[in-house]
Amino acid sequence: MKTCLIIGDPVSHSLSPAVHNAGYRALGIDKEFHYEARKVAADELAEFMDTVRPSDIRGISCTAPHKQAIMRYLDEVDPVADKIGAINTIVNDNGRLIGYNTDWLGVIEPLKRLATIKDKHVALLGAGGAARSIAYGLSEQGVKLTIYNRTPDKATALAAQFKAASAPLIGNETAIRDSDIIVNATSVGMGSGDASPLPRAALSERQIVFDSVYVPYETKLLREAAAAGAQIIHGTEMLVHQALAQFKLYTGYAAPEAAMRKALNQALKEHGENI
Ligand code: ATR
Repeated sequence: MKTCLIIGDPVSHSLSPAVHNAGYRALGIDKEFHYEARKVAADELAEFMDTVRPSDIRGISCTAPHKQAIMRYLDEVDPVADKIGAINTIVNDNGRLIGYNTDWLGVIEPLKRLATIKDKHVALLGAGGAARSIAYGLSEQGVKLTIYNRTPDKATALAAQFKAASAPLIGNETAIRDSDIIVNATSVGMGSGDASPLPRAALSERQIVFDSVYVPYETKLLREAAAAGAQIIHGTEMLVHQALAQFKLYTGYAAPEAAMRKALNQALKEHGENI
């Protein structure tokens, strides 16, 4: 049996085990692969990584707080992950640990299914960890990218790395309204607060609005974008697409998307989401 893990702290509410295990079942490889969540705190990472090489662990998905810290324990870092500066996926290739990043695919794949994104004006909201992978992906697609952040210096630093423009989030509603695509990579709207990173006036019917926040399923941003007539993409799409790419890396098989998507929706329903 090959084990795949998601490690992080906290990790108990992770939906990844439900999604990946559903994929194994759909392909009939659930006797060969099993996926589970394991809590690994920041100060336990070194000790944990010592155990990985000789074990039956085939893959590790990593989430906060490990995405950068884990790099030093790997034998090889994929060039894309290196450019992003963060790892969310590790493959144990017979004792050789190789780090990848699939987070950026979580935004690019759903956008590409909806529209041609090359040359589009894209407003990326946020300049933290999530925004980094997204900025990489967007810059590779040849979009006209502007990064908006509450703390403008962080937007400027990120923009410099990915050949983008930057501006303060506050007070730029008119420029954001003129964007073809808005991607929210701030944490605003996450959880129970029902807040939006943008006023309604920044939203219009000619936009695609993608929220990386997936709990709640219908964020205030997406509700208001839909009300303005925009096309919306839920944060769950990001989860699905980064997981599909991980699945391929861990198992070698093309991921069974429908089964994994269904499992994600089911798990969210069980968490009380109205999906
Ligand atoms: P993550 O890894 O989820 O991206 P992060 O690195 O802490 O988390 O980044 C959080 C992002 O949300 C940042 O861009 C942050 O803006 P600042 O750089 O100004 O802190 C943004 N953010 C968090 N709370 C916000 C708020 N109330 N209004 C606007 N932006 C906010």
